[in-house]
Amino acid sequence: MGSQPLKVSVIFGTRPEAIKLCPLILALRAYPDRFAVHVCVTGQHRQMLDQVLEVFDVIPDTDLAIMQPNQSLAALTSRALAAVDRYLAERSPDLVVVQGDTTTVFTAALAAFFRRIRVAHVEAGLRTWNRFSPFPEEISRVFVSRLADHHFAPTEGAKNNLLREGVEERTVAITGNTVIDALQIALRKVKAAPPLILGLPKEIMGNRKKPLVLITGHRRENFGSGMESICGAIATLAARFEDVEFVYPVHLNPNVREPVFRMLGCRPNVHLIEPLPYLPFVALMQRSTLILTDSGGVQEEAPSMGKPVLVMRDTTERPEGVEAGTIRLVGSDETRIVEGVSELLTDQKLYKHMSGARNPYGDGKACERIVELLSSRQ
Ligand code: UD1
Ligand code: UDP
Repeated sequence: MGSQPLKVSVIFGTRPEAIKLCPLILALRAYPDRFAVHVCVTGQHRQMLDQVLEVFDVIPDTDLAIMQPNQSLAALTSRALAAVDRYLAERSPDLVVVQGDTTTVFTAALAAFFRRIRVAHVEAGLRTWNRFSPFPEEISRVFVSRLADHHFAPTEGAKNNLLREGVEERTVAITGNTVIDALQIALRKVKAAPPLILGLPKEIMGNRKKPLVLITGHRRENFGSGMESICGAIATLAARFEDVEFVYPVHLNPNVREPVFRMLGCRPNVHLIEPLPYLPFVALMQRSTLILTDSGGVQEEAPSMGKPVLVMRDTTERPEGVEAGTIRLVGSDETRIVEGVSELLTDQKLYKHMSGARNPYGDGKACERIVELLSSRQ
């Protein structure tokens, strides 16, 4: 190892990247002799990104503030690429660290490659092998795998996906997913000081006997008819199960908010609330009976909390949760969603089977492993 610390720029832009990279930033910063860490956020998300930074006390060194309302993929991509390039020209890091599969990740990896700066990709190797699902993330992550120098795969399956694409084995390591590191930090904080769930009547968190279905959804491939049928399913379920609370923190994307508020507003047992900061959301996951979602991160967190997850997608890049028995795909079809939730709410045997706590995504030490790997690969 050289005498100068490695100049590392950690670049991210959205809520899930922030959740999965903040613990790594803290872990890298524990070794100032090895790493000079600089945090650059693109600001692809604004409010939902800032909510996470606060939890982990991470203050960005650079904020490119690129978000625009209802941004198109092409406009977002070109703004992010240009902004990250300006940042890299000024900072000139030795290594760029990115996480996952958003447009920020793809453009940051591409901008670094153009400047011949090494790229480390956290959560590498996830694949559905369907380029339209999730859209555009499947292609973003394939591109990043072509551009990256270090691939930190969360699971053996993810590593095998990379090898199948011809990525050199010596550049791939299995680390576990840093989301479990983040979740463990969050669970400790939630236990020490139970957070307030803004917008939700207090008695809903207090009365733990009442079943609670937690819902999140934001995938682009579900926009339009998919969102309509998801909302139709929730409306049917809320009418069928009047004693169950349906709690939905609604993503800020206007393509999500319009159908959700139009179709689900004004129902007594459907609670539409704003996106929650990470700690209240984790507390709500703990309180929930089951989770209905199309989120990637939630599929990884819920199994270790013993929460059954019905995934409103046709494909998943996270087959480990399905194999573990905690996750089932129900797609965005109204009937399948209604049947899936109804079964879980009424069939105790099935519920018990799906709610055993299992954790295929890591042991909370992914960041530690990544720090060691980066220390030895200077
Ligand atoms: C993005 C990622 C997706 C990731 C998701 C996590 C891309 C193409 N999509 O999707 O992979 O799973 O984040 O949530 O990278 N908005 C706000 N404030 C915010 C965030 C979003 O107002 O804090 C609104 C804006 O109108 C914005 C729109 O949502 O234009 C869409 O944001 P964008 O980041 O393009 O897409 P997401 O659907 O959030
Ligand atoms: N999450 C949160 N507040 C919410 C909804 C989700 O903090 O209101 C967290 C959740 O615990 C998970 C992450 O956000 O860690 C998932 O983000 P999202 O679903 O937006 O993106 P994806 O994981 O699908 O890319």
